[in-house]
Amino acid sequence: MSALRGDALAGRHAIVTGGARGIGLAIARRYLAAGASVALWDLDASMLANELQTLAPLGTAISAVVDVRDEEQIAGAAAQSQERFGGIDILVNNAGVLGPTVQAWEHTPAQWRNVLDVNLTGAWLCCRAVAPVMLARRRGRIVNIASVAGKEGNGFNAAYSASKAGLISLTKSLGKELASSGVLVNCITPSAADTEVFAAVPAEHREQLRTALLSRVPMARFVEVDEVAAMAAWLASDDCSFSTGAVFDISGGRSTY
Ligand SMILES: NC(=O)c1ccc[n+]([C@@H]2O[C@H](COP(=O)([O-])OP(=O)(O)OC[C@H]3O[C@@H](n4cnc5c(N)ncnc54)[C@H](O)[C@@H]3O)[C@@H](O)[C@H]2O)c1
Repeated sequence: MSALRGDALAGRHAIVTGGARGIGLAIARRYLAAGASVALWDLDASMLANELQTLAPLGTAISAVVDVRDEEQIAGAAAQSQERFGGIDILVNNAGVLGPTVQAWEHTPAQWRNVLDVNLTGAWLCCRAVAPVMLARRRGRIVNIASVAGKEGNGFNAAYSASKAGLISLTKSLGKELASSGVLVNCITPSAADTEVFAAVPAEHREQLRTALLSRVPMARFVEVDEVAAMAAWLASDDCSFSTGAVFDISGGRSTY
């Protein structure tokens, strides 16, 4: 992955959802370093504004306050990105929430629906807005950030695991549908990264959850956000040319499939 050329994404225009922090922000940095221009879409307006300033020296970065549960906001931001960049070459569906860490039946229906709405339907809504733009130019890369939880089903995170399993399936279906179109669709399944995603977990359970997650990783460490970003950069590049509908593991040996 480190062999990726420094200009591998030159002239490409990318959208990264949930790009204001964590894995999404690392992907945005990596794309800018590889020559792409990047639109960050996120719920959090103040984080977006701060990060946009830090990204400015790296290249062309713009932002839009977008809730990926809202198709009108997505349509507006997609039109803005297209107008500003003249096209969209790369979509990274990264925005995600963990939801509650409880028994499967203890989620409230509203909590369950929210996790599915953000992590799965949100990604689908973004594909729905952007795939036709890519198809018209017969060129594009869609990178979905799923999770090992979607392969294995983490106990006490059923909504999260189900949403990520759904995202893996969406990747496979869309990958097959677009296989001969020039638009490649792949997903990444990281194991735990030490990000703010765990902030939603009550403090008294947070350490316990992190220890439990780490105990399943043979390499016995968190994945670095830059490691996920490197894989996302390769998947967005022309070097990725014969993989679509595929699941790329990055879990320190946890999921060997
Ligand atoms: N951190 C991990 O252990 C881990 C492991 C595997 C997969 N992932 C996945 O990677 C992705 C990024 O995770 P992270 O660890 O960087 O999380 P994070 O919580 O640090 O960042 C998530 C970002 O998504 C944004 N977001 C949340 N809901 C949104 C919405 N409705 N619309 C738009 N933006 C929204 C947040 O504001 C935030 O900036 C998520 O999809 C997550 O499920 C994370």
